[in-house]
Amino acid sequence: MHPMLNIAVRAARSAGTVISRAFEQHDKIEIESKGDNAFVTSVDLKAEQAIIDTIKKSYPKHTIISEECGELKGEDDDYQWIIDPLDGTTNFIKGIPHFSVSIALKVKGKLDQAVIYDPIRGELFSASRGKGAQLNNQRIRTKQHKELAGTILAAGFPQKQKNQLDAYMNMFKDLFSQTADMRRTGSAALDLAYVAAGRVDGYFELGLKPWNTAAGELLVIEAGGLVTDLSGGHEHNVSGNIVAASGRLLKEIVKTIRPHLTATMK
Ligand code: IPD
Ligand code: CA
Repeated sequence: MHPMLNIAVRAARSAGTVISRAFEQHDKIEIESKGDNAFVTSVDLKAEQAIIDTIKKSYPKHTIISEECGELKGEDDDYQWIIDPLDGTTNFIKGIPHFSVSIALKVKGKLDQAVIYDPIRGELFSASRGKGAQLNNQRIRTKQHKELAGTILAAGFPQKQKNQLDAYMNMFKDLFSQTADMRRTGSAALDLAYVAAGRVDGYFELGLKPWNTAAGELLVIEAGGLVTDLSGGHEHNVSGNIVAASGRLLKEIVKTIRPHLTATMK
């Protein structure tokens, strides 16, 4: 295993321990609203600290960009760790056992290592650039569907962009009428990991942040899939609007949603 992936795994497992212990008493957790229907808990912060401590111990000069603490610029900015310590905080708060730790490493601007860890199921998704993607050390691959018929897509609802709801509902309607079914799980990182593992055939969501998607993007690519913005382009890290699937299916998704895209979605 690549030494930096090894550290990412160690960091994810240590955050996972913090999260799963706290989940046993989740109704006692302090919750703070961040606005826009987003929340943070003391557990997000504690898990984040566990990850930062693990990375800093081995790589004190690297830059860290993490959801709750922002950017901690290191002396060596060629290495950037992008972290969501708890992806699916709303599920966690509600007692729904579906959330994850997401850690990616970019080297000179390119995704290089990725870990997404589901502490409830003990599932560890990992990928190294050019080396494929794994679930608990077993190789995973995206499903290679060519058309929407018969597929299951994961979707995120635009809870932070309700002004886009009409356009979103039109996109959803056109996709839903052609697919077998849809899922809204509440953890974007796990949605992407599930595309990589072939558990869902594709995924789309609006208004995400780099820490929600960085690790999942490398997983999908290394599992043989593609990740783009809603127009099929490469601005998803800027817009936060994302589609992931096998190449052929992604083309079908983009074609179906194109007529409904507003200027801000493109
Ligand atoms: C959220 C989850 C959710 C997605 C939201 C994200 P968080 O991340 O990934 O599935 O729909 O847009 O913000 O806030 O729990 O880290
Ligand atoms: Ca989070």
